[in-house]
Amino acid sequence: MDLTQAKHAFITGGASGIGLGLADALAARGVPVTIADIDAAELESVVASRGAKGSGRLRGQLLDVRDRESWALAKSEAEAALGPVDLLFNNAGIMPDGKELSDMPPESFDRVIAINLTGVFNGISAFGSGFRALGKGHIVNTASMSGMAAAHAGLGSYGPSKFAVVAMSEVLRDEMAPYGVGVSVLCPGYTATNLPRSTKRIGGAIVDASIDVLESEVKPHHVAEMVLRGIAANRLYIITHPERMAAVEQRFANIRADCDAG
Ligand SMILES: NC(=O)c1ccc[n+]([C@@H]2O[C@H](COP(=O)([O-])OP(=O)(O)OC[C@H]3O[C@@H](n4cnc5c(N)ncnc54)[C@H](O)[C@@H]3O)[C@@H](O)[C@H]2O)c1
Repeated sequence: MDLTQAKHAFITGGASGIGLGLADALAARGVPVTIADIDAAELESVVASRGAKGSGRLRGQLLDVRDRESWALAKSEAEAALGPVDLLFNNAGIMPDGKELSDMPPESFDRVIAINLTGVFNGISAFGSGFRALGKGHIVNTASMSGMAAAHAGLGSYGPSKFAVVAMSEVLRDEMAPYGVGVSVLCPGYTATNLPRSTKRIGGAIVDASIDVLESEVKPHHVAEMVLRGIAANRLYIITHPERMAAVEQRFANIRADCDAG
């Protein structure tokens, strides 16, 4: 998609981290942006700070991606304010609790799946037919490198949620291509964001409750620029940490070895 033609970006989890990096990168290019988030206080402070500096074409939208009625309202309010959405970022997500599957409270598993996976489906469900009618635009779903290789103890909810987002994005790309709509899946590695703090705020547990932020050389604005390049090139996979590909290649080598041994 030619981003100079973009009319309205809708970003879930847009009040922090990668979502906010995307919002800033798009607003800097003059694209009107709706940032949708469950965190009302963060939304308010981000919109106040950006509104003072920017063009005022960045608005906040309270949204819990788990809540389908909230999605319908968010779509109608956003499009009434800034026009039809032609860039959708299904980006909101939370961390896993780090417990082994046998010990994981079912509600903890359910929370990760409801936000990281069903939340992405809910976004597609709310906006997909609008994109088809427009006949243009681009959808980016945020997965993770844990959606490509996740064989670590403690990733039993997060890994499956992100693998499924990769698979859903591959299907959606096939379904949207005839309508001229692009689809990408963003697979970040460690990025410096507030993911632990945001996860705890909405009641999720994490391994070390004292951690609020993730430390990394890779910042949200780096990821945002890679995403915008991926959209411009209509790339299916947006890989921000190429060094993490070794684990993906090892996974496929293991599959190949077992297949050949079969
Ligand atoms: N930071 C990393 O290292 C990393 C790595 C791989 C993937 N990711 C993924 O990137 C995405 C963005 O996370 P981030 O790292 O920028 O974290 P972040 O916590 O800084 O931002 C996530 C935002 O999502 C919001 N959110 C959480 N639950 C929500 C809900 N139910 N409805 C609406 N909004 C909700 C939070 O309030 C927060 O503002 C997530 O899907 C995460 O899994 C992050």
